[in-house]
Amino acid sequence: MLICLSTILLALGDQVPLPTSVEDFLQPGTQPDDMVQMLDPLSSSNTCQACHGDYLQDSFHEPWDGWVSNLMAQSARDPIWHAALTIANQDATDSGEYCIRCHAPVGWYRGHSLPSDGSALEDGFFENDFDGVNCQICHRAVSPVPVPGDPVVDESVRAALEFPPGDGYGNGRLILDPVDSRRGPYSDIPNTPGMNLHSPTPAIHSPFHQRSAACSACHEVRNPVTMKQADGTYAPVADGEPHPTQDPYDMYPEQTTWSEWLHSSFADGADVVPDDRFAGNLDGPVSTCQDCHMPDRVAGGCFAWESPPWFERQDLGDHGFAGANSWVLKGVRSLYDDSVTGLSTERMEASLERNIQMMRNASDMDAWTEGNELVVRVTNWSGHRLPTGYSEGRRMWLQLRWLDASGGVVSEAGVWNPTTGDIVESSTKVWKSVQVAAGAMAQAAGVPDGTTHHLVLLNKTEFDNRIPPAGFVNAEFEAFGAPPVGVTYADGQHWDDSRFVIPVGATQVAVTLLHQTTTPDYIDSLLENNVTDESGIIAWSLWNDPEIGNRSVPIDMDALVFDLEPSTPGDVNGDGSVDFNDLLAILSAWGAPCTGCSEDLDGDGEVGFNDLLIVLSNFG
Ligand code: HEC
Ligand code: HEC
Ligand code: HEC
Ligand code: HEC
Ligand code: HEC
Repeated sequence: MLICLSTILLALGDQVPLPTSVEDFLQPGTQPDDMVQMLDPLSSSNTCQACHGDYLQDSFHEPWDGWVSNLMAQSARDPIWHAALTIANQDATDSGEYCIRCHAPVGWYRGHSLPSDGSALEDGFFENDFDGVNCQICHRAVSPVPVPGDPVVDESVRAALEFPPGDGYGNGRLILDPVDSRRGPYSDIPNTPGMNLHSPTPAIHSPFHQRSAACSACHEVRNPVTMKQADGTYAPVADGEPHPTQDPYDMYPEQTTWSEWLHSSFADGADVVPDDRFAGNLDGPVSTCQDCHMPDRVAGGCFAWESPPWFERQDLGDHGFAGANSWVLKGVRSLYDDSVTGLSTERMEASLERNIQMMRNASDMDAWTEGNELVVRVTNWSGHRLPTGYSEGRRMWLQLRWLDASGGVVSEAGVWNPTTGDIVESSTKVWKSVQVAAGAMAQAAGVPDGTTHHLVLLNKTEFDNRIPPAGFVNAEFEAFGAPPVGVTYADGQHWDDSRFVIPVGATQVAVTLLHQTTTPDYIDSLLENNVTDESGIIAWSLWNDPEIGNRSVPIDMDALVFDLEPSTPGDVNGDGSVDFNDLLAILSAWGAPCTGCSEDLDGDGEVGFNDLLIVLSNFG
């Protein structure tokens, strides 16, 4: 015991857990107590699979099949989440209870979220805490605000809440009907006895399920142990009490996918995307989260679809929920038996294919030259930032391979190293968000100012150059607390231009846009910061395993090969001739360190003698 304690103290250094309790993390919305009274338990996806899974050969459009091979179904098993959960509990006492609310919601509503390390979560067949974000979590959900056309009964569900969430979105503030029901998009499902196959459970037409707001409760994550100050910084509030205002906009924003979408042109229903890459069978513009993440398919809604009145649907929402995560599902499969997870080789392949396609749809890439520079434009067509969501460990970047006339490599940038899983970030353009514990928060927790990768201590965005969505307005992103940081995007700009000096001798360049789910830096921190249990080493080992994480090998989102116009060496200003003006340009930038500037002809990061020589030897 003594040895154990001293190791912990040694590893933690001066770090002390924030003196929080579950009260600090209390969020309004349906509480476990509301559900204890319920007549109907939250049943597991197994009980839906019989009718909503496995009935279409060779396709994965059945709700259960798509859902089961997505991370939302496996979120309570996700090894990266478990590793991060342990660190959260080390950093702030019982903060894990908050994580469980979104990542293992069935267990949370069943009252199994304490101890906050998840050790009380129960496996089961009919009710299963490891079922992730399961069918009933979404299909018993009720809109937080009244909207005409929503089920009338929703009013009484809201009225019965002890802690109504008001119009606040995010932070897991879900409202669930304590009485079982199947709320969904259709109004034509017969509820007459003998006809409704759910009988006596009603199928209820719920327009809420076709609005983005159905996803908002979890896809906006803010840190409840922070309070926004007049100067815009976030101070720690760890006092054993609920947040002083309970307004999510007063809390430090860790994930803002919902707000990003809400303040994009997609929320206005504008026809933004130039083709129908996302829409599936949908006619018209894509707008909601569902339009892109649950594209309409022609398929049956249940096993009996071939026998009327359950007919083939033209708009069956695909439950694959394709996203950006490239490898963690494999990690889940290696830890648990298929009979537990519902995963299979075919489903895994279909899922990975869906995610890769989604990533390829996310952007378009163009390139052109200006003088002796190559300009690469990445345009974001997703409904939020690119990339969006969880920021720790996620990054997107450009890989460049400059080739000479005989196809030899002149130089490279942003090349992913399969041995380390890393890239040299300074060699290229990287898009990411860097969130840190700063100021009073760092002091309160006893960590160095600027500490990253401690989710529950984060209170400052040090850098965020992720590409905004169409319809971006600086003031609006400022207002919800997550403007770009360290870069500028003009209002309306949903693309980013990166400039690279064309190296001498290059005649062609191959550019690839890459995305990595889990950086080496992040996985190492999950291992090194863990002083409690094995979850860090488990996550780290899976990430390193060539058959599983393979060091989170990046997904290529876009690629192009560009023939460089044979430019004249020494033509600094790009006017087609090497003359006095080019000489002047070199001399006036002389000695200046400049990465990517046009005067740095040899690309060594500085304007100097070699650059002058290149001009002189090509003069006239
Ligand atoms: C993350 C939330 C979420 C989860 C989890 C979820 N659904 Fe859905 N489901 C929806 C939404 C939203 C729609 C409406 C989609 C639309 O109309 O665009 C829907 C639609 C449906 C429909 C109507 C037909 C269709 O596909 O549009 C059925 C049936 C259905 N879901 C069953 C299930 C079953 C069974 C599960 C579990 C295996 C499940 N859902 C899990 C959100 C969810
Ligand atoms: C309000 C809901 C919510 C809460 C509370 C929440 N998360 Fe999450 N978390 C999410 C969502 C949604 C994602 C997925 C976003 C994405 O994929 O970009 C996510 C993603 C993650 C991931 C990335 C998983 C992977 O496989 O890469 C980790 C790790 C994580 N969360 C840890 C935590 C921890 C630790 C806590 C508690 C301190 C927590 N989360 C609290 C909603 C939540
Ligand atoms: C005995 C078979 C059966 C079981 C079991 C079953 N369903 Fe259904 N469900 C159906 C049929 C049939 C439909 C109608 C499909 C259609 O019309 O396209 C349906 C429709 C739905 C809809 C669409 C409702 C609407 O109004 O849009 C949802 C949501 C749904 N089921 C959810 C579930 C969930 C969640 C479970 C498990 C808890 C489940 N179902 C279990 C047979 C079943
Ligand atoms: C109860 C909370 C909850 C709700 C409601 C919810 N999500 Fe999620 N979602 C999560 C969590 C937690 C994760 C991350 C799981 C992980 O990485 O382990 C996630 C992950 C995702 C991902 C990323 C998957 C991947 O592999 O990269 C997508 C896409 C997604 N959700 C879309 C949606 C959409 C669309 C809706 C609304 C129809 C929705 N979610 C509603 C909690 C939720
Ligand atoms: C116009 C299409 C479109 C709309 C609308 C849209 N998304 Fe996405 N989403 C994408 C694309 C493409 C990606 C993959 C690129 C990326 O990670 O940003 C993605 C990725 C994601 C991810 C995965 C991030 C990760 O790190 O794993 C989540 C979670 C997500 N979206 C949630 C949502 C939610 C919630 C909404 C609605 C509020 C929404 N999306 C609206 C296209 C869309």
